[in-house]
Amino acid sequence: MNRSEDIDDMRRRLLQAFAAGSALAVGLGPRAADAGTVRGRSPTDDAVKPGVFSRPLPVPPQLHGQPDAQGVLHYALQAGSGGHSELIAGVRTPTWGYNGALLGPTLRVPRGKPLQMQVSNGLKVPTTVHWHGAQVPGKMDGGPHNLIAPGTVWKPAFTLDQPAGTLWYHPHPHTYTGPQVYAGLAGFLLVDDGVDAQLGLPHTYGVDDLPLAFQDRRLDEAGRLVYMNRIPDTLGMKGDHFLVNGVEQPYVNVSAGWLRLRLLNASNARLYNFAFADGREFHVIAGDAGLLEHPVSMRSLLLGPAERSEIMVDLRHDQGHTLVLRSDSGAVVPGLYHMSQAVDAYDHGRIDLLQLRVGARSGLSSRLPVSMVPAPKLHADGPESDFVLSGMMHRGMKIITSAGSDRRAADGPGGMNMGVGGHDLFAINKHFMRMNVINVQTSLGRTALWRVKNTSGMAHPFHVHGTSFVIHSRNGRPAPAHQRGWNDTILMRHEETAELFAPFKYRADADHPYMYHCHILEHEDNGMMGQFTVV
Ligand code: C2O
Ligand code: CU
Ligand code: CU
Repeated sequence: MNRSEDIDDMRRRLLQAFAAGSALAVGLGPRAADAGTVRGRSPTDDAVKPGVFSRPLPVPPQLHGQPDAQGVLHYALQAGSGGHSELIAGVRTPTWGYNGALLGPTLRVPRGKPLQMQVSNGLKVPTTVHWHGAQVPGKMDGGPHNLIAPGTVWKPAFTLDQPAGTLWYHPHPHTYTGPQVYAGLAGFLLVDDGVDAQLGLPHTYGVDDLPLAFQDRRLDEAGRLVYMNRIPDTLGMKGDHFLVNGVEQPYVNVSAGWLRLRLLNASNARLYNFAFADGREFHVIAGDAGLLEHPVSMRSLLLGPAERSEIMVDLRHDQGHTLVLRSDSGAVVPGLYHMSQAVDAYDHGRIDLLQLRVGARSGLSSRLPVSMVPAPKLHADGPESDFVLSGMMHRGMKIITSAGSDRRAADGPGGMNMGVGGHDLFAINKHFMRMNVINVQTSLGRTALWRVKNTSGMAHPFHVHGTSFVIHSRNGRPAPAHQRGWNDTILMRHEETAELFAPFKYRADADHPYMYHCHILEHEDNGMMGQFTVV
């Protein structure tokens, strides 16, 4: 089939499903019936709705690791259920979290120090913890083969020998990643090497160096998380409440100086086009997994699910002012989809995310350096592989909502259904993920050349485990300046091609292979993933 047939077919099938969907939605309550529409305030309406910017930004506590006599740093995480969180002001929502009710502590990991992780599963279902962006052997990676049974402990040990960067961790159990992340399981993992301080970059955690995880959620009338109950959710779960570190549209008090924001798109499927409401410029200093050679000034920055970026914004002359960080989605996002059903009113508008309240000048002296770290220099000397993102496949097309017969156990927080993973819906190289199939092999100690092409009708964030790669080219041209550092996820637009140089320094055998996949979690859970070994 050619691509346009593929898209036409998807559109036709979804439209048919929408027509059938009014019947499907009966019995799911009022929220289910308004599929694809936005209730209440229009997202482009600048009027302040009650509750907006009324609560402070939570900053996750840090874990620096407990050193033992040998100098090994010990970190303990426990995935747990039974907690409640106030995602929305005044509403109590059952959630899951690590070492608490929601999300998890920020793991501060010094480069080059041996680490011992202790991950306990306090849930009633199996889980894993994957160190997203970390270069660790396959056995320690926390992918679907590292399943932790309820009530058991997983103890991976490794050393991170990679540049400072904003990584994160989240569950990765096969076909259940989407619902477990949605339930609240995710946290930051920050690798430190001291270079940021040497360069004079802001580095006081929670003060002028803020970790910001952006997530969208849908709740029912009782305040419980709702997952995958509408037909468009088949293309990726999007919500209508926008959380930063687990709180809807918070504010944060900052000083009149340079501010560093570590942006993490931790949403299941939503893209954000980050911008300040006053249109001011900011400076991108880091991509997914490390500082850039030079800061790149921009006024908007698109991040797909799992992508990270560190930005600096100059607030030296903003004492007493407030600023709003938002997603100017309408400017970019609709153009990335060839299916209108995948794009809701928020994607067509602007989404206010976080208010910055600028106080007095701080005593901290930081600055924007002219240059930071040398750009990665790599040449490909390893195997070449091709990855065609074919998105939704003809034959497997199904509508997968919890309303149909595919409903899985409602053992998520507050009875949230555990999604609709495990369908053969989205493919890479026309192949759906199988736990017992190794799709690609590559060579230890070499730099692979991976060519990625997106032939589907929507953008997919392609992620690779076990490496930080360099984007050698996009559509035959050099990557844009802000993407010339180390990355582990690349948002592939419709018809886009990319060449990645991916060095592999650690082993992953067939028992514990690495994954490559789309990081729209409902795509990953429904086939859009493959496995590879490094030997
Ligand atoms: Cu962040 Cu394989 O995932
Ligand atoms: Cu990963
Ligand atoms: Cu995808």
